[in-house]
Amino acid sequence: MWQKYILAANLEDALEALSQYGEKARVVAGATDLMLELQRRVRRGVEVLVDVTRIAGLDQVTLDADGWVHVGPLVTHNQAVVSPVLRRYGFPLAQASWGVGSPQIRNRGTIAGNLVTASPANDTIVPLMALGAQVTLRSTRGERVVPLAEFYTGVRRTVMAPDEMLTDIAFPAMRPNQRGVFLKMGLRQAQVISVVSAAVVLTFNGDVVEDARITLGAVAPTIIRAPEAEAALKGKRLDDEVIEKAARLASEAARPIDDLRASADYRRRMVAVLVKRGLQRLAEGREREDFPEKPPLLWGKANPSPKPLEETLVLTEATPIRARVNGQEMALQGGFRKSLLRLLREEAGFTGPKEGCAEGECGACEIYLDGVAVLSCLVPAPRAYGSEIVTVEGLAQHEALHPVQQAFVDAGAVQCGYCTPGFVMTTVKLLEEDPHPDRETIRQALSGNLCRCTGYYKILRAVERAASEE
Ligand SMILES: Cc1cc2nc3c(=O)[nH]c(=O)nc-3n(C[C@H](O)[C@H](O)[C@H](O)COP(=O)(O)OP(=O)(O)OC[C@H]3O[C@@H](n4cnc5c(N)ncnc54)[C@H](O)[C@@H]3O)c2cc1C
Ligand code: FES
Ligand code: FES
Repeated sequence: MWQKYILAANLEDALEALSQYGEKARVVAGATDLMLELQRRVRRGVEVLVDVTRIAGLDQVTLDADGWVHVGPLVTHNQAVVSPVLRRYGFPLAQASWGVGSPQIRNRGTIAGNLVTASPANDTIVPLMALGAQVTLRSTRGERVVPLAEFYTGVRRTVMAPDEMLTDIAFPAMRPNQRGVFLKMGLRQAQVISVVSAAVVLTFNGDVVEDARITLGAVAPTIIRAPEAEAALKGKRLDDEVIEKAARLASEAARPIDDLRASADYRRRMVAVLVKRGLQRLAEGREREDFPEKPPLLWGKANPSPKPLEETLVLTEATPIRARVNGQEMALQGGFRKSLLRLLREEAGFTGPKEGCAEGECGACEIYLDGVAVLSCLVPAPRAYGSEIVTVEGLAQHEALHPVQQAFVDAGAVQCGYCTPGFVMTTVKLLEEDPHPDRETIRQALSGNLCRCTGYYKILRAVERAASEE
């Protein structure tokens, strides 16, 4: 676990720290991967965490004058989902971000973190590779631009040096004659790691395919292209025969392994299914059909951009973590190496947030960090320094239950109650941003909260009841 936690106020200080500590240091963005790697001791020897999430301006998606889209290193999946630039010029990436984890994971997890973790099952690498992306790596030694296709050297391995930080992701904006789609297949509908994923980006001349890029995830040590399938599409119209042939050739390009989630044979077959589905959707102009116009973000009315720091802070065990929790200024000593969940429960005495899984899967630990719903089990405690935190205890007003809490009681949506704080926190944020959500939106909003008792129907009714009383 970390000995020093550096909250960087600017890029220069972050790069200086990476240069000073080298292999012992690690950048922290959303920490949704890193916290688990550290807890499971997959990543050993890390003593210094360089948290870049309080640097202003790194969470922007922009289109430059040369027609390139730039995605900053702090752009979260939820920011990508609602980015007008990505929806228009990089749709398959927005689609991949929408499929990542749950709303709370998407509020902290970044596209840059997804790329650097370098798992072949990580979703955003697949569309970015199909879009011809490149990444900029910066250190105190200078800057280099690496095509994403050359960034990966194996499972969870990249060409990035320990003192480098990924500072930009860029790809040529999709032109009006280009269309693309990302599809993933997992073992359930939400909170799901890809068993197989695929992205297809086509350039059309009328209805003839002029160029094709097909990329496949979770079927080889790194994301791969399917060159034979791409060649089979060029110069052709997307009829059934052409689609079948390209799907078969794509599946032949896959080199999957058997693992816990699926056999190699199943994966190979599913590549054909996904590529066929993707091509059919593109042929029929249906690639946006299951992408929500108004996705639940669980930001409420808060600004999702990080609260910037004026100067870099170096925190150690001796530094009390100062934060405002449920309206009270607190200086918490003793929780420096803990998760924010354990800091709140064990040092601040707020036991409303619960530990269900400690790995981002259940939502029982949900809190608001600077107004945005996040999973406190995946936030390093020192990240909270100077932040505003609300736990379920902070929702009740003047000792009276919050109307959402009351709706859960009235609808009988509570059995053991372990999951309830998380569900209530999600519902309050959802109704702040969408006072009258439809069933599907409620389902999507609740997809990061698990309940082992109620069977969900009463919870759905409680949310609808709270909405009708708004
Ligand atoms: C419950 C759960 C569900 C998930 N579901 C999915 C899913 O469906 N699909 C999917 O693809 N992933 C999923 N993930 C994985 C994870 O959420 C994503 O990979 C996320 O995008 C990681 O981003 P982060 O900002 O949290 O990265 P972090 O954890 O902060 O960092 C990850 C790695 O990247 C490094 N890093 C981060 N930013 C930079 C930078 N700018 N420069 C240099 N190094 C950097 C860190 O040092 C670390 O090694 C899931 C995770 C959990 C816990
Ligand atoms: S998601 Fe944090 S404890 Fe389960
Ligand atoms: S009420 Fe028991 S886990 Fe949901």
